[in-house]
Amino acid sequence: MKRMLSGIKPTGRVTLGNYIGAIKPFVSYQDEYEMFIFVANLHSMTVYQEPKELRQNTKDLIALYIAAGLDPKKCTLFLQSDVLEHAQLGWYLGCMVNMGELSRMTQYKDKVAKGESIGAGIFNYPSLMNADILMYDPDYVPVGEDQKQHVELCRDIAERFNSRYSDTFKIPEPLIAKVGSRIMDLQNPTKKMSKSDETSKGCIYILDDINVSKKKIKSAVTDSDSHVHFDPIHKPGISNLLEIYSILSNRSIEDIENQYEGKGYGEFKTDLAEIVGQELEKIQKRYKEITTGSYLDDILEEGAQKARIIARKKLSKVERKIGITIKKR
Ligand code: TYM
Repeated sequence: MKRMLSGIKPTGRVTLGNYIGAIKPFVSYQDEYEMFIFVANLHSMTVYQEPKELRQNTKDLIALYIAAGLDPKKCTLFLQSDVLEHAQLGWYLGCMVNMGELSRMTQYKDKVAKGESIGAGIFNYPSLMNADILMYDPDYVPVGEDQKQHVELCRDIAERFNSRYSDTFKIPEPLIAKVGSRIMDLQNPTKKMSKSDETSKGCIYILDDINVSKKKIKSAVTDSDSHVHFDPIHKPGISNLLEIYSILSNRSIEDIENQYEGKGYGEFKTDLAEIVGQELEKIQKRYKEITTGSYLDDILEEGAQKARIIARKKLSKVERKIGITIKKR
């Protein structure tokens, strides 16, 4: 079985973008691949998190993985901070990456452009991400479009390490879906739907009130035309909604275009609002069932134990190769 690995930061509430671009694809891969899915809580620390909120967001994220359909029997689910080896490998890999490479990362450049105060963690963020990935030798890393650059840097660093110290890491492939890998803001469809959206009108959260999320779809910005047609350049609003529709209904964009030929945006949006509402309702129901009792703690403990076995072995190998260990472990 080929292996896959991916993670999501517990910063803010989980969005429809995270669900469509990451969680839903994870669920669809779990029967075919050996999956490692984690909560990137160390990465969340690169921006200040109110401790109480961070705890809640972490719990929600793990619960949503399961509520959306990830089966802990098929997929190893864990918290990044429970496997200490990530931080240690992150340090070694951080010593192999250049300042220039880190400065070219879009996520970092965007923060600089916004004039935000930037912690050292943001700059070195990709080193920890490289460790998350390379630790487990995955064949694929399923992510949304915005993470492609990070996975590409990870490949470069793995190759650098392998050529300096001999073959150690598998070179991972980013796996980016053709539809749904970049869900846009509903109010500004030229910008990615994001947890950190200030007004939250353009962003649907998976745990949003169902009626609120339906309203957000119905009031999504489209264009003055009324032709339901996929054209991300000239019709970014309707194209974004078509992608959401296609993923949530498992139908092709073309098929949906045909259904709404000559019908206008109103009917299309009303139907999509229903589809989104039904999807969220299903997840929220399951979420409520699993957030009581110690179920999630048990899942995380089991996941961390499985992940640690692989992580310890890989870190020992790395430490032997780089000369940091003097005794054979
Ligand atoms: P994060 O938490 O920003 O996002 C988690 C996943 O959701 C995808 N995503 C989207 N997809 C489609 N449309 C959107 N609007 C949208 N917004 C977010 C992201 O592409 C991502 O797949 N650095 C990572 C977390 C991470 C990680 C890793 C991922 C840490 N270590 C190792 C993979 C492998 C991040 O910040 O994701």
